[in-house]
Amino acid sequence: MVKILTIKIKKDNDFLRRKTSAFDFKKFTKKEIQGLVQSMNKMMVQADGIGLAANQIGLDLKMFVAKVDRKFYAIFNPEITKLSDTFTPAEEGCLSVPEMAGDVFRPERISLEGYDRNGKKIKIKAWGVLARVFQHEMDHLNGKLFIDRIKEQQKFKIK
Ligand code: NI
Repeated sequence: MVKILTIKIKKDNDFLRRKTSAFDFKKFTKKEIQGLVQSMNKMMVQADGIGLAANQIGLDLKMFVAKVDRKFYAIFNPEITKLSDTFTPAEEGCLSVPEMAGDVFRPERISLEGYDRNGKKIKIKAWGVLARVFQHEMDHLNGKLFIDRIKEQQKFKIK
């Protein structure tokens, strides 16, 4: 049974802090990709989450799944191509950071580009909760957690 890695275990924390490798569609069959998407969706739903990055289940792959407003996303090799100048705070938690939550300031709107499970290029303009979830999952893929953002933002406030 695959488990969601948490920062409570040192080697899992080390893995979560590493930037993921690009997803190479040539290395996987359609069936394998479909299986990956389905099992990540299942784990996310069972854990009561709204987003899950592949490195949270121990896979060094640049991809994540998310479910917001009943719409499901599985995005491979995502990149944020635009960020709004306006920031907004909202409370975040994370399946890899148990029993913690806190306000994180993030850009309100973003544009995200990546690929769907068939390797087809996609572009999404997101705002509100979706923009936040995408940014949170992008952070995961870059080895960053929401608690790091809070720390940075608190430092900024002190100055
Ligand atoms: Ni998370």
